[in-house]
Amino acid sequence: MNVVVSIGGSVLVPEPGAGRVEAHAAVLEELVADGCRVGAVVGGGGVAREYIGAARALGANEIELDQLGIDVTRLNARLLIAALGEGTVTAPAHDYEEAGDALRAGNVCVMGGVAPAQTTDAVGAALAEYIDADLLVYATSVPGVYDADPNEDDDARKYDRLSADELVDVIAGLEMNAGSSAPVDLLAAKIIGRSGMRTIVLDGTDPERIARAVRHGDHEGTDVVPEGVNEEPTYWAQ
Ligand code: UTP
Repeated sequence: MNVVVSIGGSVLVPEPGAGRVEAHAAVLEELVADGCRVGAVVGGGGVAREYIGAARALGANEIELDQLGIDVTRLNARLLIAALGEGTVTAPAHDYEEAGDALRAGNVCVMGGVAPAQTTDAVGAALAEYIDADLLVYATSVPGVYDADPNEDDDARKYDRLSADELVDVIAGLEMNAGSSAPVDLLAAKIIGRSGMRTIVLDGTDPERIARAVRHGDHEGTDVVPEGVNEEPTYWAQ
């Protein structure tokens, strides 16, 4: 089974430190030991936001800020690489072909950002599409996809299951509300739709939740099941 795990920067590196990174790396290695081919994508988190805020105050333009963000995602990706044992690449892949080559060579591939004007959510979806993944997991700091920002709105409701078209509609609605942040961005939702990628959005702060979702489809987040995709996945372990 091919799986892409996209780990938010605030999940993996809430602050620079080893603990979380070690625990997430251990789970990725367990999945490899189970026979999965694993692609990991790492976000920038609070550190990226701080750098971007400082550079914005210094007058950097949006593309320059994105480049700064990409650099931080790659730094975080290097931390994950440091925690993974042999069978990992030595540096984050710069593009999907490089990542695919690493996977074909039997390595875990690790990516950060690749191009301005998007986030690593889209990188995760594109990598999953490129390697023909059976499953894409977004390990975020929120428990799933909601109809409003759960940090702002006490009445926000979590979706247990969405089609890809419904996900696009929900995200588009959330992005219209300034300041409310969606757990997955719109470009990622569009890629999920066109590729028919089965996707799970969950709270990944405890990496064991990622392992359970991949192995058994068991999670408390949101399932995104594009139209035409089988109700019952055939790849989950019994
Ligand atoms: P993230 O993917 O972490 O963005 O990339 P985010 O969704 O804002 O952060 P989380 O999910 O809360 O952790 C950090 C920043 O890096 C740039 C963007 O500016 C993004 O906001 N970036 C990242 C790119 O421009 N291109 C990429 O491919 C990835």
